[in-house]
Amino acid sequence: NTTPPSVSPILTHFAGVPIPQLAAEFGTPLYVYDAAMIRQRARDLAPFDVTRFAQKACSNLSILRLMRDEGVLVDAVSAGEIARALAAGYAPSEKDHDDAAIAAGHHPAIVYTADVFDRAAIDTVIEHDLPVNCGSPDMIDQYGERCQALGRRHGVTLRINPGFGHGHSQKTNTGGEGSKHGVWHTEVADCVARAERWGLRVTGVHMHIGSGTDMSHLHKVGEALERIALEVGSSVLTISAGGGLSTPYRGDEPPIDVAGYYNTWNAVRERLASAFGHAVNLEIEPGRYLVAESGALLTEVRAVKKQGTLNYVLVDAGFNNLARPAMYGAYHPVSMCPAGSGQDKEGGSSATTADCPPPTADFVIAGPLCESGDVFTQKDGGIVEARPLPQPTIGDYLVIGGAGAYGYTMASNYNSKPLCAEVLIENGQPRLIRRAQTVDDLLAAEL
Ligand code: LLP
Repeated sequence: NTTPPSVSPILTHFAGVPIPQLAAEFGTPLYVYDAAMIRQRARDLAPFDVTRFAQKACSNLSILRLMRDEGVLVDAVSAGEIARALAAGYAPSEKDHDDAAIAAGHHPAIVYTADVFDRAAIDTVIEHDLPVNCGSPDMIDQYGERCQALGRRHGVTLRINPGFGHGHSQKTNTGGEGSKHGVWHTEVADCVARAERWGLRVTGVHMHIGSGTDMSHLHKVGEALERIALEVGSSVLTISAGGGLSTPYRGDEPPIDVAGYYNTWNAVRERLASAFGHAVNLEIEPGRYLVAESGALLTEVRAVKKQGTLNYVLVDAGFNNLARPAMYGAYHPVSMCPAGSGQDKEGGSSATTADCPPPTADFVIAGPLCESGDVFTQKDGGIVEARPLPQPTIGDYLVIGGAGAYGYTMASNYNSKPLCAEVLIENGQPRLIRRAQTVDDLLAAEL
């Protein structure tokens, strides 16, 4: 369904703070996050033994600290993400490699999970002795060689590609032959043998089939994982359902049935536990579910013009700030905030709707970059869409919603635009959690 909602609402507040106040204090473009929403989403997933945040979705240290405060653990896909996890207070422990502790319910705070080790990543993993989830057979050999040299006889987990996947775009489908991800499901015995050659053993099975919108695909993963875990055998102590839980980007999606999803996975876990004769830990590894809804990109209207029959509104944020629409044709809700509105009102929730909206027309919402694809309202394949929006004027703000996941973390310096600031709002208090880059920052690294 690609039909946009009939009318984008007007917003005057975000997380209880007047939007013009946020823009005046911190500038635009600006990422804002609602801490209460993140906490709520973390608590939703409490049935799972462990929620491991896929920090690639939103890796600001303050967000990671908030996750930690909620008892959420973390994954890392690079030396940089390991450094972030450590800086946020996640700590490796000797128990991370102790089968008895894991069997008794210990979950490592940080797991390195990727399809490759670059040299910086493997050095950092070895230095901090982090557990590894291997997404390709070569990773087992590269890790095994280093472990053997150090006399470490560790467990490793395998990320398996079950031969099917699902994504909101082909680019976010991480299963099947068309995806580079994971150990192919028929190569499991070979991987177990490789691990054993280095004195390692396979202590976990993980699947992440993609970032989609449809729960029915996710429910099928349990069956596939159960088959692979039985093939590996009773060395398996932990299973991971991966990420992929969606979030209501359009507002009209059915709510995610967390309890039903947990039941599917808990049944898999219980059958494995009885087959193995010991307890099996169950992890989930979401990114979008935890943070997408909490975040918005605030941007100021800088031009309003007509191109033939189409109305355009051009703002000061572009795909350098939020790449998802340009990259995947992803839908983000866009709301308007008139300049100077909401100053004397108390907003109680994340989004407060004004009483009397101005007239609405259809607008293409675009950014400042030198590319025709720099458009926030488009469908897959680069088709530009006009969307209903209350008539904006220069100096009004647009609020691009659902931007908390893969927003800031996929931003770039294209067109030599500095990365923007991030603000976390908790109990009505906005706090700068990352200053904007300056142009001097951009030039400083160049020789
Ligand atoms: N686990 C692994 C191994 C992953 O590769 C990912 C996402 C996740 C968990 C979390 O997936 P989520 O729950 O967020 O769907 N940039 C795209 C999504 C790509 C995700 C890459 N890996 C987007 O903006 O939709």
